[in-house]
Amino acid sequence: MSKNYEELKKKFCEIYGGSEEDLRIFSGPGRVNLIGEHIDYCGGYVFPAALSLDSTVVARVNGDNVLRLAATDLPDRVAVKLDELESAKTLRWGNYQAGVAYFLQNAGYKLVGVDMLFHDTVPLGSGLSSSAAIELATAISLVTLGNEAHGITKPVDMVELAVLGQKTENEFCGVSCGIMDQFASAMGKKDHAILLDCATLKYEYLPLKLDGYKIVLGNTKKKRSLGESKYNERVSECAEGLRILQQYLPGKNNLCAVTPAEFEQYKDKIENEVVRKRVTHVIYENDRVLKAVDALKKNDIKELGRLLVEANDSIRDLYEVTGKELDTMTAEAIKVEGVIGARMTGAGFGGCTVNIVPEDKVQLFIEQVGRNYREQTGITPEFYVSEIGDGAREIKL
Ligand code: GLA
Repeated sequence: MSKNYEELKKKFCEIYGGSEEDLRIFSGPGRVNLIGEHIDYCGGYVFPAALSLDSTVVARVNGDNVLRLAATDLPDRVAVKLDELESAKTLRWGNYQAGVAYFLQNAGYKLVGVDMLFHDTVPLGSGLSSSAAIELATAISLVTLGNEAHGITKPVDMVELAVLGQKTENEFCGVSCGIMDQFASAMGKKDHAILLDCATLKYEYLPLKLDGYKIVLGNTKKKRSLGESKYNERVSECAEGLRILQQYLPGKNNLCAVTPAEFEQYKDKIENEVVRKRVTHVIYENDRVLKAVDALKKNDIKELGRLLVEANDSIRDLYEVTGKELDTMTAEAIKVEGVIGARMTGAGFGGCTVNIVPEDKVQLFIEQVGRNYREQTGITPEFYVSEIGDGAREIKL
């Protein structure tokens, strides 16, 4: 869906009335994760980048103590009083926004009533963090307008907004997700990926320049089913693995603090084969992230691609969160001439793949993978040549 700020402002006034003059625009981006999958909640390293696909919000302070929410692609209209935000927990749509407002207030932010219109270009449920995009778009809008109304001039702490976004998913929406998506959406930087240590929230930006190559995203268009319950199941399996290893490796606070060598020494203590497989993925995936970053620093794109493929094998066979659609798409991707890496990205159970494709083969890639994927799954996929953008912010026209 395209993004035209003038049209969005008009649409806002159709819904809420008033003039366009005092409207403000904010953006919370989606993200792609290059490598480091399903290890953020195990204190691992991840390597995401913010996308130019985003959740855009048109907003206006309303003078009431109410949050009013609308979206361009949904009929839902929500109004929640700022002192009754918890009641929005059960909403089909609007719970993310209300949850963010709730946790902002609990953390001491002073909010004001705002009318908001959301417009999402991150395809929903596609593994590109449409929910984190909405959370961070909401957070930056409410904090900016709330601070202004209360004469607060201190700079916004974007990392704190990311943490509160994660808290919303964990405690308001019932998904035990890690910090990666919200962090990438809050802290993204144009043309850079973020090496984030999820145990400490220390981070480093690395230029994402792949000479002669493009990062192409493939959307399987397979909607995640059972995604959230399976996701939480993986989180518990990792917690179980950690509990067992801690008996032999006291002082390890998270799975990614265990080195591959330590794991090899004690892996047989994990008797449950499924749990052992999950932990094997986590520990080696963490190691791969650092190797991938090293390869990128040396401009060794081939090695980077090899690690992406290895990561995909691991998440498919050991972590088991892919499924027929993602597996078909990655298998077809890697067959295209010149492609050096392809893997699923995000939570899995459907959603998107990330692919490193030679610039002059992008069209061929889209046609060939598109055709072969459609033949095998009956689903018509979508492709996006990704643009790496900035994190959540106000858009000044
Ligand atoms: C989802 C979660 C993230 C992360 C990824 C998998 O996107 O929100 O916290 O766990 O899955 O890497």
